[in-house]
This record gives sequence, C-alpha cells and structure tokens, in this order.
Amino acid sequence: MDLHALASIGVRDPLVLFFLFSAIVLALRFLRRRRVPLPPGPKGLPVVGNILDLPNKDEYRVYADWSRRYDSGILSLEVLGSPMIILNSAKAINDLLEKKSAQFSNRPPLRLFNDVMGCSWNLLFIQPGPRFKEMRRLFNDFFHTKIMSNYHNHMLKHSSEFLCRMLERPEDLHEHLKKQSISLITDVTYGISGDEMATVYANYERAIAQAAVSPILGLLLDWLPFLPKIATWLPFMHKTLVWKRHIHAARTTPFAHAKSAIARGKVSSAVIPQLLRSVEENSKHEEFLQDFGATVHGGGTDTTTFLLETLIYALSLYPEVQCKAQEDIDRVVGHLRLPDFSDRKSLPIISAIVKEALRALCHDENEFPDPHLFNPTRHLTSSGSLNPDTKDPESIAFGFGRRVCPGKAFAIESVWIMTARILSVYEIGEPVHLDGSSLTREGQFTSGLTSYPKPFKCTLKPRSPGAYDLIRATATFES
Ligand code: HEM
Repeated sequence: MDLHALASIGVRDPLVLFFLFSAIVLALRFLRRRRVPLPPGPKGLPVVGNILDLPNKDEYRVYADWSRRYDSGILSLEVLGSPMIILNSAKAINDLLEKKSAQFSNRPPLRLFNDVMGCSWNLLFIQPGPRFKEMRRLFNDFFHTKIMSNYHNHMLKHSSEFLCRMLERPEDLHEHLKKQSISLITDVTYGISGDEMATVYANYERAIAQAAVSPILGLLLDWLPFLPKIATWLPFMHKTLVWKRHIHAARTTPFAHAKSAIARGKVSSAVIPQLLRSVEENSKHEEFLQDFGATVHGGGTDTTTFLLETLIYALSLYPEVQCKAQEDIDRVVGHLRLPDFSDRKSLPIISAIVKEALRALCHDENEFPDPHLFNPTRHLTSSGSLNPDTKDPESIAFGFGRRVCPGKAFAIESVWIMTARILSVYEIGEPVHLDGSSLTREGQFTSGLTSYPKPFKCTLKPRSPGAYDLIRATATFES
C-alpha cells in the first residue's frame, strides 16, 4: 500500500495513528520478549499471542479442559506479549501461594486501577512493604475472628432491618441484600448511616464494575503506560476520568462525614472514630486511616451481597435443603424469637449451607464429588455435626498466603446470621430468570472477574402469620 492510499484511509486521523503506533510498540515487545520456559498451554499467534483463546464465558470449564489436555495443574498463556499463569489445582495453589507466599504475594502493575483510576491506596493493590504490613496489621486488630462479637449487635440490627424491608417490598430482593451489606459495613467502619452515602457508593460500584469488564483497556495501559499522559483525547480515557472522580469520592466522603459527626459530639465505637481518637488532625497518619476505612468498605460490600445471592438462589432451587434447615431452626430456636449468635453451635446445618455457597466455584471432583449439586450435607457427619474431614471451602474461597482475605471472619459471621434469620421466617419460592431462560439445578452464573447468579427473581414469603409479627417486632426492638 503506498502513502497516498494510507492517507486516503485517514492515516492523519489521530485514532488511526494511535492504532498504528500501538501495533509497532506491540510488535517490538513481541520481538524483545524474554524466552523463559513456561508451563504448558495453548499455542498462541505471533504478536497477539493467546488473546483469541481467552474464554469470554465459563472460564473455569475452559481452564479445566486445558488442564486435562495438557495434563498439568499449572497453565500458561501469552497475551499481547505478557505471560499469564493459571493455577488450576489445589496442589499448584498450595505449592505457590501458600508455601511460597513470600515470593508470590506481589501484584501486577494494573495501571488502569493504580495510575489511571487512582486506586493505589487500597490494600488490594498495594505491593508488599511497610504500608502493606501496617494495613494488614490494622485489619488484624479490627477484624480478627476473636473480636467478631464486637460486631454482633450491628449484624443483628441490620439483618432484622433486611427482614422487615423484604416484607414491605418483596420484589426487590437484590436491592435489599445490597442495602444490608452497605449499611452494615458503613455502620461498622464509620459509625454513619449507609443512606447518607448511597449516591457515593452507587457511583463507586458502577466505576469499579465498568473497569472490571474492560480487560483490553487494562492490558493496553499495562503495555503503553504513557498513554494517559499523551492521549487524553481518546474516547475511553474520558471514561476513566469519571471513574477516578467517583473512586476519590468513595475514598474521602464517608471519612469526612465520620469526622464531622465526631466534631458535632457524636460518640461512636465504630472502627474509624476509634482510630481517629488516637491521631493528630491532618497528620499523614490520618490519611492512612482514611485509606484503611475505604479499603474495608470496598472489600466488604459486593462480596457478601454476591455470596448471599448465590445462597438464596441455591436454596430456591433446592427446597428440600430449606426444609431440613427450617426443621433444625424450629427445633433449636422455636417460633418466639429469631436466631442469634448463641445458636451457632446448635445449627451446624446453617454453617454447612454457607460453606456450600462458598464452594459454588470449586469444582474439583476429587475433593467434592458431584460438584454441580448444591449439597450442604457433604460438610456434615452422619450425626449432623460439621465434618472436619471434608475439605473446607472457606480455606479456598478467601484466597491464600499473605494475601488471604482479611475480612473473612466478618464475612462468614454476617452471612451466617442472615442465612439463619431468613430461613427462620421466610419461605424462599421458585426462582425465575429475568431473561426468560429455563432453570436447571446447576444454576446459571455470570462470567468474568467475579461470578454471581445471573439476574433472577424469587419470592420470599413469611412462613406464617407468627413469622410476620416476629419480623416486625424484632426490627423495632433491635433498631
Ligand atoms: C463472601 C465474602 C468475601 C469473599 C468471598 C472474599 C474473597 C476475597 C479474596 C478471594 C481475596 C483475594 C485474595 C488474594 O488476592 O489472593 C480477598 C481480598 C481482600 N478482601 Fe475479601 N472477601 C470477602 C469479604 C470481605 C470483607 C467483608 C472484607 C472487609 C471487611 C474484605 C476485604 C478484603 C481486602 C481488603 C482484600 C485485599 C487483601 C490484600 O490484597 O492483601 N473481604 N477477598
């Protein structure tokens, strides 16, 4: 093609120039890449590598097929010149992320999140070092299993408010679950109401969700790190500026509200007010506390909402599991009160249901026979107590080694009480998918960075007139 022909397809157009330039950078990266031996995986194309092999749905099935085909629990791909390693067996994960955690607990550059969207203050993105250690230490001080009882009253209050909202608008299950998670974590972290922050958090959530489904943009920024500086005019760069603004608001606004509540004389035992009492105003440490608060908040909302959605979805598909759990609740708790944390030891079935919902993405047939069935009894002995010999999904779903989820105990306890209370007073009806697709017991889940049930509707009806009265009475009392 001659230069005139190039000009006629618009080579002076900045967008075309940009793509030409990117192709040259990519080709140079391909030629200069280091050839170190990598684990097996599908053979890619020159320059673009395995970009066309990347699955856009049911990732775990595709990876499981590759593991069988290459007879390896560790796979490798090359995407736009960068190697990508897939750990696809419990052994591979244990060998690398647990035993060699010191070596494998750093993060990739993730420039979209760190440099462009300004998330580098969040523990999730921090590289191991003094700041990482200090933030994990604070998590340990405030979210260790041993001090979870400090948060039980908050969990009881927000769970009973959820039950009450379900009575008023039973069709809005998803909204109520989200509101419950946000209100609980906002209350525990800042001592303020989730309603005050509703818009800030809705914008934040949208920004993260949109960025998470833009993997190509993420890769592009990883191999062209100077892009945000030289190409602000590119259409997608505008989007990232909006995301950045929303993330900044979620980082700073609730913290500022908590501070001004303290200044007005509010006494609160929430995490941030407690910590603020011990630091000087506007100090560097105050900014660190602001970042800690926003990290706690960011980690503790969608995650528990998705787990509860998965759990309710599964229970709606398996009414016999509901019946068994309700029999146990009726026997242990009766009908005159809602379950509370004192019932935990006597209701192993509820713990087993939470474990089975956490197992939703673990399909290793050797560990979990019939992995596609929702079968909480796999976590119980024949006498109904928790079985210590079954692999515990809690040791998988929350990550590994130095990066293991620091909010694990909080997540498990808050989901436990929600599950016990929902089952004690509500009957979960048959689910219907919003897109009209048929339902099988395997369920249908979204693909991507996080996986959760595809949008569905199901009804939660009070189990009896007595259950209805109990919900109303407890919400008034516990609030
Ligand atoms: C069902 C609920 C939850 C699940 C399944 C979950 C799962 C995970 C997983 C898999 C990781 C990644 C570990 C890694 O990078 O290897 C993680 C990290 C993290 N989680 Fe959770 N989580 C949940 C709830 C929470 C809650 C309630 C909080 C806060 C109170 C939280 C805060 C965090 C933070 C801050 C990180 C980053 C840790 C780091 O990079 O060092 N999570 N979580």
